[in-house]
Amino acid sequence: MRFTVLTLFPEMFAPLQESILKRGQAAGLIEVRLVNFRDYAVSKHKNVDDVPYGGGPGMVLKPEPVYAAVAALPPAQGRRQVVLLTPQGRLFNQGVARELAGYDDLVLLCGHYEGFDERIRDLADTEVSLGDFVLTGGELAAMAIIDAVARLVPGVLGESASIHEDSHSFGLLEYPHYTRPAEFAGRAVPGVLLSGHHANIERWRRKEALRRTFLKRPDLIEAYEFKTEEYSLLEELAAEESAILAYRERWQHLRPAPKRKGARREPTAPEADRQSRGE
Ligand code: ADE
Repeated sequence: MRFTVLTLFPEMFAPLQESILKRGQAAGLIEVRLVNFRDYAVSKHKNVDDVPYGGGPGMVLKPEPVYAAVAALPPAQGRRQVVLLTPQGRLFNQGVARELAGYDDLVLLCGHYEGFDERIRDLADTEVSLGDFVLTGGELAAMAIIDAVARLVPGVLGESASIHEDSHSFGLLEYPHYTRPAEFAGRAVPGVLLSGHHANIERWRRKEALRRTFLKRPDLIEAYEFKTEEYSLLEELAAEESAILAYRERWQHLRPAPKRKGARREPTAPEADRQSRGE
């Protein structure tokens, strides 16, 4: 997957040359290209910004260098998406990361200074914001997006990594992890994790993922669709945590139907046989 960043500050992207992203690039799984759009400035003084029409404070990024830099990009490698980083974009999250990981060629356009000429928006297929706060430019947002998307590219995290269990990947926060020692600073690792009983471990992990999502991110619970197999875990959690009890109505539709005494059941094979003979 190719990432091309259009920025006035390519030096800011040095962190991408470390760790997992460095390995991903060395292995040819991802490629990061940095384009300084100052190289495409038209004026004698290589100006990339100018005063705003209508007056007001600050400077505005000029459209020509950005348009020229985009026009000079090599042909798209597969499916391309041009992403403009702006606090006015849709909020970045794991779902947007997954969506962007579906492209082969991402172009990230970083604004800087107080703003950019409105016509720059026309270059973008989508606008993305890192969060409801204002950065000094799009660079840190672009880096965060490259990191989150690159780790979804098959092979980047290595063979064994499971990106499916990550926090947010299926709507819940991830369950707690422990490693040796089994007891540290008076805190013991939950016994079930030492039991080797895989079904119980899975059940415990799902329960703890639900518990921490309820307690830390109730907003995610609002959007989460409870699964039938989670019913008994949810009932246990409601008994354990008063804060969770308040949500109890939300999963009652999953309550298993009570087994009625004398309820009709499928006949056994010999019974069916007898019935068919009219006995
Ligand atoms: N540029 C400035 N603030 C930003 C934000 N929150 N997200 C993306 N790009 C930005």
